[in-house]
Amino acid sequence: MKKILVTGGTGYIGSHTVVELQNSGYEVVIIDNLSNSNIQVLDRIEKITGIRPVFENIDCADYLAMDKFFEKCNKDKQNNIKAIIHFAASKAVGESVEKPLLYYRNNLGSLMNILQLMLKNDVRSIVFSSSCTVYGQPDILPVTEAAPVKQPLSPYGNTKKVGEEIIKDTIYANQNYKGIILRYFNPIGAHPSAEIGELPNGIPNNLLPFVTQTAAGLRKQLQVYGDDYNTPDGSCIRDYINVVDLARAHVLAVRRILDVQSKSSIETFNLGTGRGLSVLEIIKTFEQVTGVKVPYKVVGRREGDIEQVWADPTYANEVLGWIAAETVEDTLRSAWNWELKLKFNQNR
Ligand code: WQD
Repeated sequence: MKKILVTGGTGYIGSHTVVELQNSGYEVVIIDNLSNSNIQVLDRIEKITGIRPVFENIDCADYLAMDKFFEKCNKDKQNNIKAIIHFAASKAVGESVEKPLLYYRNNLGSLMNILQLMLKNDVRSIVFSSSCTVYGQPDILPVTEAAPVKQPLSPYGNTKKVGEEIIKDTIYANQNYKGIILRYFNPIGAHPSAEIGELPNGIPNNLLPFVTQTAAGLRKQLQVYGDDYNTPDGSCIRDYINVVDLARAHVLAVRRILDVQSKSSIETFNLGTGRGLSVLEIIKTFEQVTGVKVPYKVVGRREGDIEQVWADPTYANEVLGWIAAETVEDTLRSAWNWELKLKFNQNR
């Protein structure tokens, strides 16, 4: 069984990816510092797959702790780490504007530790969690991987852009090493079991948790940040991708990086549905699917928001053999079921 290290594996996208990796026959080791996730996620993963992943509470920014971990993990040469999926990073756009150094130190420091220890321990494959934020506001839509990377509007986005560059330079300097960069659009939804889902600490940054918490009565009103954009209904457009679809793309990326001789040692894929939806369309569809009203008020634009972006996922469809299969209706329903489960558990 091939062993895959998943950093940030108790987080939102990480936990869903661990489930899909286990379902596909990989052995998973998670390291996570639990700064933005909950250790109970391990029980939930085990409940879904019947397999409890090995877990170490380690901060990827702590080189010494990581060095010890790799030594221990790779002692058995027959069963060493075959590939790393690197999720662990701080990801609050607004917070990154207030605390840029925290983001550069944590996100880039962690990544450099991982790459250094890959070289030291001869772990030759990395799948990197990146974001469509590196495109800024694309000039042409839908956006392909050939679109120019622009100066991201936040330090968070810049850690993704610079992170990609650090990976490319490191891989190109080291023969037989390979990297796959996955640029996510907007991940939403939860596992159909409602055992795992998005668990934002405090006030959510992202749209969907705000929608579901407002629908659940945890928040009085959703604020819609602007309806005066140059879009059909005036609100911003994004490409919302089901988190389980996204997780499955990681399994295909691991399979490709380990089993396929590709021409280039670095490959980049856009992971989106190829369909843009506006904020108001998301609200309307959520209300239709759940039968629950979402009280909202249109307010001023949010600093740093781009107007509209959605993916051209052709390259991922053809080369990774991946498609975004889930409908937006089922995805919104899964987000609501997750919110109801959280509320039920909190009221027990
Ligand atoms: C979506 C739309 C908001 C909240 C960011 C990161 C990206 C990725 C996903 C990590 C926007 C509007 C939101 C609210 C609203 N992060 N909105 N009211 O900004 O597209 O992307 O999160 O990987 O890298 O950049 O996502 O969900 O914050 O916003 O009107 O209460 O919803 O203005 O148009 P975003 P989002």
